Amino acid sequence: RTVYVNGEYLPEHEARVSIFDRAFLMADGVYEVTSVLGGKLIDFDGHARRLERSLGELEMKSPVTPEQLLEIHRELVRVNEIEDGLVYLQITRGAPGDRDFAFPDPDTTDPTIVLFTQSKPGLADSAASREGIKVISIDDHRWGRRDIKTVQLLYPSMGKMMAKKAGADDAWMVEDGAVTEGTSNNAYIVVGNKIVTRQLSTDILHGITRAAVLRYAREAQMEVEERPFTIAEAQSADEAFVTSASAFVMPVVEIDGVALGDGKPGPRARRLREIYLDESR
Ligand code: PDD
Repeated sequence: RTVYVNGEYLPEHEARVSIFDRAFLMADGVYEVTSVLGGKLIDFDGHARRLERSLGELEMKSPVTPEQLLEIHRELVRVNEIEDGLVYLQITRGAPGDRDFAFPDPDTTDPTIVLFTQSKPGLADSAASREGIKVISIDDHRWGRRDIKTVQLLYPSMGKMMAKKAGADDAWMVEDGAVTEGTSNNAYIVVGNKIVTRQLSTDILHGITRAAVLRYAREAQMEVEERPFTIAEAQSADEAFVTSASAFVMPVVEIDGVALGDGKPGPRARRLREIYLDESR
């Protein structure tokens, strides 16, 4: 596989990043994941805009322009012959000579930029998407700026493991009695013709897929209500689902051992998935 590191396209085994890189020492970096379907990047502009915002919130600057970024994405998809899969992008505050809590001077330390692809044949037609996934609820112990897409992913990673140990697929995180989001996706319930999902704030990541799916829901005459919901409300909802760049719209069929409806993916989740995939391809 060919990867991109600081201006160079290299075979992955030749790519090198310093042990002093602040992402390695302090998780001081941001990332984006853009999916690829049929060789086409999905929603690149949305991801590029959110990247700029994440960088700005952390007083970092991108080492490349959005045009260059698009070109690098396209080139990696091309050389790695990605039909279905994703492009991972990470920008970190770089590698000053020593470990220090204070940010290094941006005039003397350049950011590190890394991109690589992952091939996922059949990404849009997984067994999980046909059968739906099971989630458990866990407390949300992440930091308070979840709107910034940082590489601090230890707690979401632990949440995923808690779900696996419980025989489930993913975890929904709960704070002050209400669901914030999934470990790597936004969470929704469906009550009648109404889609309910938490409103945007610093409590959740502002999903690029979320924005598209809510737009399609409204266009399909579904009602959209942006507010927090509880696990109890979700367990008695008609349907539930999650969205992300890599899962698209993924039906949820069980929450903390309680099956939703007949335990199968609901019609609105399936419809929104279809619309999302049709519009993206
Ligand atoms: N995760 N919430 C969290 C905490 C996420 O990590 C993600 C994405 C989302 C959905 O955002 P989007 O629709 O823009 O992908 C919501 C990516 C896919 C990841 O970490 O792999």
